Amino acid sequence: MPAIVIVGAQWGDEGKGKATDLLGSRVDYVVKPNGGNNAGHTVVVGGEKFELKLLPAGILSPNATPVIGNGVVVNLEALFEEIDGLEARGADTSRLRISANAHLVAPYHQTMDKVTERFLGKRAIGTTGRGIGPAYMDKVGRLGIRVQDIFDESILRQKIDGALRQKNELLVKLYNRRSIAVEEIAEYFLSYVERLRPMVVDSTILLNDALDEDKVVLMEGGQATYLDVDHGTYPFVTSSNPTAGGASVGSGIGPTRIRRSIGIVKAYTTRVGAGPFPTELEDKWGEYLQKTGGEFGVNTGRPRRCGWYDAVMARYAARVNGFTDYFLTKLDVLTGIEEIPVCVGYDVDGTLHGQMPMTQTDFHHAEPVYETFSGWEEDITGARTLEDLPENARAYVLALEEMSGAPFSAIGVGPGRDQVIQVRDLIG
Ligand code: GDP
Ligand code: IMO
Ligand code: MG
Repeated sequence: MPAIVIVGAQWGDEGKGKATDLLGSRVDYVVKPNGGNNAGHTVVVGGEKFELKLLPAGILSPNATPVIGNGVVVNLEALFEEIDGLEARGADTSRLRISANAHLVAPYHQTMDKVTERFLGKRAIGTTGRGIGPAYMDKVGRLGIRVQDIFDESILRQKIDGALRQKNELLVKLYNRRSIAVEEIAEYFLSYVERLRPMVVDSTILLNDALDEDKVVLMEGGQATYLDVDHGTYPFVTSSNPTAGGASVGSGIGPTRIRRSIGIVKAYTTRVGAGPFPTELEDKWGEYLQKTGGEFGVNTGRPRRCGWYDAVMARYAARVNGFTDYFLTKLDVLTGIEEIPVCVGYDVDGTLHGQMPMTQTDFHHAEPVYETFSGWEEDITGARTLEDLPENARAYVLALEEMSGAPFSAIGVGPGRDQVIQVRDLIG
């Protein structure tokens, strides 16, 4: 059986956790291919709410093996805190496996994240402050420390020394902070060795063998297309590749083995952190979506900026991810709005754009061109087929599908596991 990838189509928080959970009972492995504990994926099971940060949401599916892939940056303190929290609530985390090649987030990465954000001043990204960018910088800069390194004390100390030489210069001379001792960091990492050892595997063997045996492997991307360091609104992005191609790199599953690429897209748009956002609403409707949709960050508690659905963004996401399907979420949040605007193009200094502008400057200047759809009043949270939807809701969904670049195979009508309209099978 081939692999399936779930990708955020906007700026994150589209409901990837819910989508993973929905498919959880039918998949054998759930891999997190990118990001770290900057994510926040919510799963609501039987009225109980779980918030996953570093772990894939698939950890809550009793028959799936959750895997942290090589493309993830792992904060060990956050990892064990999350594991302990889930265990205390009765979840079984014993199946978790972690790639030996995944990189580690060190305490100095968090320090660097905070000081560089402050240094940027008005140009700050609004990161989650989890040290994700600096950890990926060290990875690409070949100064990173990988999971496997903590099992060889001598190598570990050499690598910490290499990373700290440069960081201490910056911390002391540029940022006026104290320097960090190699031993302090070595002790921090070594304190986790025994707990970590049984979880560590060559995940490329594990996952490719599973695919050879016809098992279903789901890749649960963190973050989203517009936070992708290559395809997103650079520099207001995260430091990994949350797009579908990144899932292949971050899990060691070759692109030829991925059959479905499923984009998760909200029926409106949200963003946490700084950066351009053409359909952002700074009026009562922005507040309305924030309140009605419960748009507050899982990870940092920050309010999410809100705006209308942007079909130009959806078309671009479908293109760069090769989406075979879209999962539209949070349609229920739009219930009760009389007229629902949808962005169908951009006016950039008098020129109409139907596709994402080539340059960031043009995207910053993009004024949304709206088409307006009639809303509906009826409660749709109990709808389980397209026919159950009021006519205007169905028309809204079909119009969005027409302009978004991939078929809408599922539609979320509430946060619960069963609150979904499944138009076509997402696995087969
Ligand atoms: P993720 O990061 O993509 O997993 O998304 P988050 O968990 O950060 O944010 C999505 C929020 O929307 C969560 O609170 C979910 O419980 C909720 N959610 C997901 N799908 C739906 C839906 O169809 N309707 C409603 N009302 N809430 C949903
Ligand atoms: P999930 O997986 C929403 C945003 C941050 C910031 C930028 C860079 O829940 O969709 P970072 O700490 O990654 O260096 O921050 O990316 N960001 C997210 N926004 N959802 C997320 O994850 C995010 N992960 C990072 O707010 O703008
Ligand atoms: Mg989230």
